[in-house]
Amino acid sequence: MDMKDTLCGRKVSSFGLGTWKMGGGQSPDFSHDLDHIKAIRYAIDHGINVIDTAEMYAAGHTEEIVGKAISAYDRKNIFVISKVWNDHLTHDALLDSARKSASRLGTDYIDLYLIHWPNPGVPIKETISAMEELVASGLAKNIGVSNFSVAQLKEAIDATKSTKICANQVEYNFSNRAPEHELIPFCEENGIDVIAYTPIMKGRTLIYQNLVALAEKYGVTPVQMSLRYVMEKAYPIPKSSNPLHIDELLAATDIPLKAKDYSALRA
Ligand SMILES: NC(=O)c1ccc[n+]([C@@H]2O[C@H](COP(=O)([O-])OP(=O)(O)OC[C@H]3O[C@@H](n4cnc5c(N)ncnc54)[C@H](OP(=O)(O)O)[C@@H]3O)[C@@H](O)[C@H]2O)c1
Repeated sequence: MDMKDTLCGRKVSSFGLGTWKMGGGQSPDFSHDLDHIKAIRYAIDHGINVIDTAEMYAAGHTEEIVGKAISAYDRKNIFVISKVWNDHLTHDALLDSARKSASRLGTDYIDLYLIHWPNPGVPIKETISAMEELVASGLAKNIGVSNFSVAQLKEAIDATKSTKICANQVEYNFSNRAPEHELIPFCEENGIDVIAYTPIMKGRTLIYQNLVALAEKYGVTPVQMSLRYVMEKAYPIPKSSNPLHIDELLAATDIPLKAKDYSALRA
């Protein structure tokens, strides 16, 4: 896959790979580790160079899986996103979380470190200051947020002193287009990348008749059309542990979606 897109200024593949549920949900499940490692490597071997994970996933075990998967590659060619959970947003807790994430990932740095969810109980200035320390120390190359509204994003931007917030990761897909109204335009105006999670609606696309009809017209699957839809305005990170599904997702990047069909889908 060509590195046609950019994320926080880095050239990256047209979409990244999500990892939620690889190695467990709220707690670790070691039973399919090899399959997940193989799936991540399959994705990387087919040109996907962005991997999204978080300290919360499987209580850290997903990061261990990602770490094992990427250990076979030149680190500088992979863009790793991880996130600090919202009960670790005080200064010291955040630095500790980042160090532990990097250790589980087997890496000296995290390409993009995100605040997973806002926490009104911790002053955003304290959290952002700790995030900026991570950048100064080299442990994080870039910082961003996730699940922040425009108002919360503005507060976070105001709290920065030395580093730009370069991304906001939010739920955005064909069924949840709320970000199109205010959030995506705000991010476009401010040079902030919107990373779309749950971009293929967990594969449940068949109930959207206009999506299904347009997919048929283009000779693609509804999942592919749903991914292509999101790519128009955001950077998607679909999750798959299945190489056949990954192949299907990869083929979506070439759909020559016409502007009038895209507009009709949005109507
Ligand atoms: N920041 C946040 O708060 C937040 C919240 C949610 C998610 N995320 C991130 O975003 C990533 C993606 O979101 P998500 O996992 O919620 O949802 P998603 O990517 O929309 O859907 C993932 C599901 O779709 C299935 N799937 C993948 N390709 C498919 C295909 N070609 N046909 C049919 N089904 C397919 C996967 O199963 P198989 O594995 O069997 O292919 C998996 O069950 C997460 O993994 C995580 O990294 C972040």
